[in-house]
Amino acid sequence: MTIAISDLSLTPAPAPLARILVVDDDESIRVAMVRFLQRCGYGVESAGGGADALTLFEQHTFDAMICDVRMPGLSGPELLPHVLAHDPNLAVLMLSAVNDAPTAANVLAGGAVDYLVKPIELRTLQDAVIRALARRHSRMEKERFDERIQEEVRLRTTELEQEKESLRRLSVSVVETLIIAMEAKDVYLRGHSLRVADLAAEIAIEMEQDSALVERIRLAGRLHDVGKIGIREEILNKPSSLTIAEFEHVKQHVRIGIEILRPMAQLDPVLDIIHDHHEHWDGSGYPRAVCGDAITLGGRILAAADAFDALTSQRAYRDPMRADDSLAYLGTQAGALLDPHVVRALQIVMTRRLASA
Ligand SMILES: [Fe+2]
Ligand SMILES: [Fe+2]
Repeated sequence: MTIAISDLSLTPAPAPLARILVVDDDESIRVAMVRFLQRCGYGVESAGGGADALTLFEQHTFDAMICDVRMPGLSGPELLPHVLAHDPNLAVLMLSAVNDAPTAANVLAGGAVDYLVKPIELRTLQDAVIRALARRHSRMEKERFDERIQEEVRLRTTELEQEKESLRRLSVSVVETLIIAMEAKDVYLRGHSLRVADLAAEIAIEMEQDSALVERIRLAGRLHDVGKIGIREEILNKPSSLTIAEFEHVKQHVRIGIEILRPMAQLDPVLDIIHDHHEHWDGSGYPRAVCGDAITLGGRILAAADAFDALTSQRAYRDPMRADDSLAYLGTQAGALLDPHVVRALQIVMTRRLASA
């Protein structure tokens, strides 16, 4: 079989010159194509079979490959996936002696960009090469463009995350200032928020919660009583038990706290935990008076940590309870005021703490 050299008027190849590998076991065709493509201005290498072609791919980079379909050893369709593994954008033109539709469909589906039938006019071959290289070029441009867009999105997302985080930190520090002001009003509350935050986070870890929830619970612990800023000082420091009306007033600290925190969108994920920190497992708590799993897990954990810290702290109306006595008392509240699983985790955490103290 010979290539019909009917038109040798050459169109200059686009710059920069592309590198093309010609693979054909028929030496006369191979040599004719190599010469023609070199005269077109391309850098051309050739191989007499699939195995030699693969060796050349190990050593060189090519923009296009013109490859015979039927060759002894590795055939064109068998070679195709190997060369595309080297470079998925390689422009592969398959050249066959027969116009075989299934083979054509097969190689095009496998990633070849054209299927040409021999004998082929050299001008037709050149046009096909130019088309294939243009397609490779636009595919690579699109990939580069997509990469730039993705990089831009990545950068912008990181910036936004950093802005969000610094806003969240700012919000937390503003609220912590409020807490310091609030704790200054009630000497018995000093350090309460920090202790509750640490204990609640440790309970959450003991209960194998993911780190994001642990940190939400820790933050909720820091902020849970911020609403006490709105409670009258003489009630917060009252040395005797509260009247019903006074207790109703104290209960308002949950609502006030949520109202203080709600405008700070960055604190949104911790509001439901704070809202639930006085709910009881048996439904006797406030403000929603819901029971069991209807209370957020964070709220149930915070309630147990809050209760433990309250019992073991000095109050205007009583001395602190010992840690082991407090744990024993809270044990009696498992399934009543408190979630039994949370009480169990609290006991494990505190027993560990006391043992290492
Ligand atoms: Fe509270
Ligand atoms: Fe509290």
